[in-house]
Amino acid sequence: MHQVAPVIEVQNLETRIDTKMGPIKAVDGVSFSVRPGETLGIVGESGSGKSVTALSLLRLVPKPAAKIVGGAIILDGEDILTVSETRMRDIRGGKISMILQDPQTSLNPVFTIGSQVVEAIATHLKAAQRELLNRAVEALRHVRVADPKRRVEDYPHQMSGGMKQRVVGAIALGSNPKVLIADEPTTALDVTIQAQYLQLLKDIQAETGLAIIFITHDFGVVARMCDHVAVMYAGRVVEQGPVQEIFSNPAHPYTKALLSSVPSVEEDVERLYSIRGQPPAFWDMPKGCRFAPRCDQAMSKCEADYPPTYESPAGTQHCASCWALEDTEWTPSRS
Ligand SMILES: Nc1ncnc2c1ncn2[C@@H]1O[C@H](COP(=O)(O)OP(=O)(O)OP(=O)(O)O)[C@@H](O)[C@H]1O
Ligand code: SF4
Ligand SMILES: [Mg+2]
Repeated sequence: MHQVAPVIEVQNLETRIDTKMGPIKAVDGVSFSVRPGETLGIVGESGSGKSVTALSLLRLVPKPAAKIVGGAIILDGEDILTVSETRMRDIRGGKISMILQDPQTSLNPVFTIGSQVVEAIATHLKAAQRELLNRAVEALRHVRVADPKRRVEDYPHQMSGGMKQRVVGAIALGSNPKVLIADEPTTALDVTIQAQYLQLLKDIQAETGLAIIFITHDFGVVARMCDHVAVMYAGRVVEQGPVQEIFSNPAHPYTKALLSSVPSVEEDVERLYSIRGQPPAFWDMPKGCRFAPRCDQAMSKCEADYPPTYESPAGTQHCASCWALEDTEWTPSRS
């Protein structure tokens, strides 16, 4: 079957950060791609490099400490790591947009909702004020803000958390981007509002063919939202593939441990991500497999060399980097 080309393709991305403990590779050879209308989930414990990956996609890594030092990010056919900062300003918020980890703080309390949505649209569209305001009303209608003509006059404090979240969505989607990055966009919301917001993003995706990169700790959210998932550990993707495959047939011991520590309804919530031990420090990375100190299946070669990436015999582009796959039906990855 002919498949649509990816709208974004990340190849061997490397981002270095100078920290007090020395330089670290917070993102260390990350590759993935997303097609129009698809959602990729990025999961992993705290500190695994999810947010630095997301910021790298916008070339917004914290300056001057962080720098993208390797790889390519092909967005809609253009390697955005090679374009000028002026061009990047057009791309950012234009073709690729982001909803931040704590969206509510990204609204300015002293300006009306309307002026904030107008400002975002005006960055990418030269038009008269009246036209910009009409567009802002449409953007708010698109994220199902009721009575948007009146709500543009409101200030953020006059809105509920769920409504503010939608306004942040309107700002991110106002320029009709091809790719939306959402970094834990629902953690500040209660469960019902969270579910409504996720459904809204899915509806907008179905209407527009938006590609979404969804960063989360929550496998429930992954199951509901994502088509594919990439599991990050200590700056690297250790396993990725279609969501159903990762859930039903996880290959990497880290993915298995994450999935078995997701609480079911009857279980104690405290078990969430309760894998023994801690992830390694970035300035003191194990030479071989980074998960080896915590892995029940570790062998001597695991400590000596980083494992190659293997592809599943299912032919579904399900891959994992683990020595335990060496003498199985899995085959060394060609990419
Ligand atoms: N501005 C910064 N200065 C120094 N180190 C940083 C900075 N930002 C991130 N890091 C480090 O980079 C690594 C990856 O961080 P990142 O924020 O990407 O993790 P994360 O996977 O998003 O975690 P969380 O789930 O907690 O959001 C961590 O070790 C973090 O301490
Ligand atoms: S490579 Fe070895 S240590 Fe790493 S996850 Fe696989 S079995 Fe465990
Ligand atoms: Mg983060």
